[in-house]
Amino acid sequence: MNRKLFRNASIFTPVDRGTPLSGKDQGKVVCLPKGAVYCRCGVIEDIGEERELLSRLSPSQVDVEIDCGGRCVIPGFVDSHTHMCFAKRREEEFNLRLDGVEYLEILRRGGGILSSVRAVRASSEDELHTVTKQLALSALRLGTTTVEIKSGYGLDVESELKMLRVIRRIGRETPLDVVATFLGAHAVPEEFSTTPDDYVNLVIQEMIPAVSAQGIARFCDVFCEKGIFTVDQSRRILETARTAGLAPKIHADEVHDLGGSALAAELKAVSAEHLLRASDANIRAMARAGVVGVLLPATAYSLKKAYAPGRRMIESGLPVAIATDCNPGTSYTESMPFVFGLSVLQMHLSVSEALVASTINAAHAIGMSEYAGSLDVGKKADLLLLDGDSPAILAYHAGVSPVVQVYKQAEPVHET
Ligand code: NIG
Ligand code: FE
Repeated sequence: MNRKLFRNASIFTPVDRGTPLSGKDQGKVVCLPKGAVYCRCGVIEDIGEERELLSRLSPSQVDVEIDCGGRCVIPGFVDSHTHMCFAKRREEEFNLRLDGVEYLEILRRGGGILSSVRAVRASSEDELHTVTKQLALSALRLGTTTVEIKSGYGLDVESELKMLRVIRRIGRETPLDVVATFLGAHAVPEEFSTTPDDYVNLVIQEMIPAVSAQGIARFCDVFCEKGIFTVDQSRRILETARTAGLAPKIHADEVHDLGGSALAAELKAVSAEHLLRASDANIRAMARAGVVGVLLPATAYSLKKAYAPGRRMIESGLPVAIATDCNPGTSYTESMPFVFGLSVLQMHLSVSEALVASTINAAHAIGMSEYAGSLDVGKKADLLLLDGDSPAILAYHAGVSPVVQVYKQAEPVHET
C-alpha cells in the first residue's frame, strides 16, 4: 500500500470553499506551524496539527514517513495561463524589443506570433513534443504541478490539432496535470491578412467543431486586441465555442483598453487574462459576473509596461490568479516563484493573496479545483517544500527557486 505521512511541516494553504476567493477572502490562508499530511495513493486523506492527526492514525497505517524538517509546505502551483507548446525561441525579437521596437509592431512586420506559427507548421509532432516536454518538466521542478497550455501557433485546422495532440501527450507522459485551451484566434495568419473575417469564419465553422468533436480541449481563448481580433469577432468565436462545449476565456486589455474585459463580463467568461489596461468599471463588472482575473506580471516585466492593478482588483472584489504566460515572445519564463515575487513586489499583493492567486484561484480559473489548488482532503497530494519559514521566501529570495522538493501525488520529483 502506498500510504505516506508528511510530518514536521510548517503548512500554509488556502481552504477551498468551492468558488474562487475574492476581496478579504483572497488573503485567507490556514497556517499549521507543526502540521502533517496523510495520503493514500497520492490523494490527501487527512491534514492537521501533527499531534492531533497522529492520534487519529495507528502506526500500521503508515508505509512511508517523510520528515519535512520544519520547512514550509504549500500546495503545488497551478500555472493557469501558458503558451509553452512552441517550436523555437525568439531571441532576435527580444533584441529588437530592447532596441525599442514595440511588440505589436513586430507582429505587423510578420514576426512575433507569426514567426512562431511558421516554426510550428514546419515542425513534426515529435519535435514539438520535445521542446514542450522540456519546458513542462522545468516548470514541474519549479513547483508547478498543474498547468494550462494553449494552442495558437498553428492557425490552420491541422496545425492547431497537432498542437492540441502534443499538449495531451504532455499530460500523459509527464507527472503534470495538463489542461488544454484552444486558441485558434491568437492572430490572423498571413494567408488571411487581407480577409480576416474569413479566418474568423474558419475558426467558427471548422476549427471549433473539429476540436470539440475530438474532445481535445476544455476551453476556448481569443486574443482580443487592437489589430488582432475585435470585440465583435471575439464574441462570435466565444459564443460558438460555448455552444460546442468549450468554456470561454479571453486575452483582454493587454496592450490597449479595447473592451475585452467588458466582453468577459457580458459572456460570464471563466477568466479574463492580462488586464494591464482594464478600466475600474470593467473590473467591477467582471467581479459581479464571477470572472477570475488571471494576471501575468512576467509579461509586463518583459514588455516593460505598467503592471496590472492587482491590489485595486482585489479591493474591487475581483478574484485574482497569477500565471507565467510562458511563451517565446512576451514572457519566456516557466517560473511560478518568479511570478510570485513580481506579484508581491510589483502588483502589491500580500504574500497570502499571492499564495491564493497561484493555487486555489488559479485552479478555479482552469476548472481543476476538484483536484488541485489546496491541501484539502480528497485532493491530489501535490505539495512543495520550501527552503524558508513561510511563503514570503518566494518573493524574498529573488532570482532563485526556494522550492527544494516537489511532491506530485506524493511522489518526489527532485532527485535527492
Ligand atoms: O499572452 N498576447 C498574446 N499572446 C501571448 C504572446 C504570444 C507570443 O508573442 O508568442 C501573450 O502575451
Ligand atoms: Fe497569453
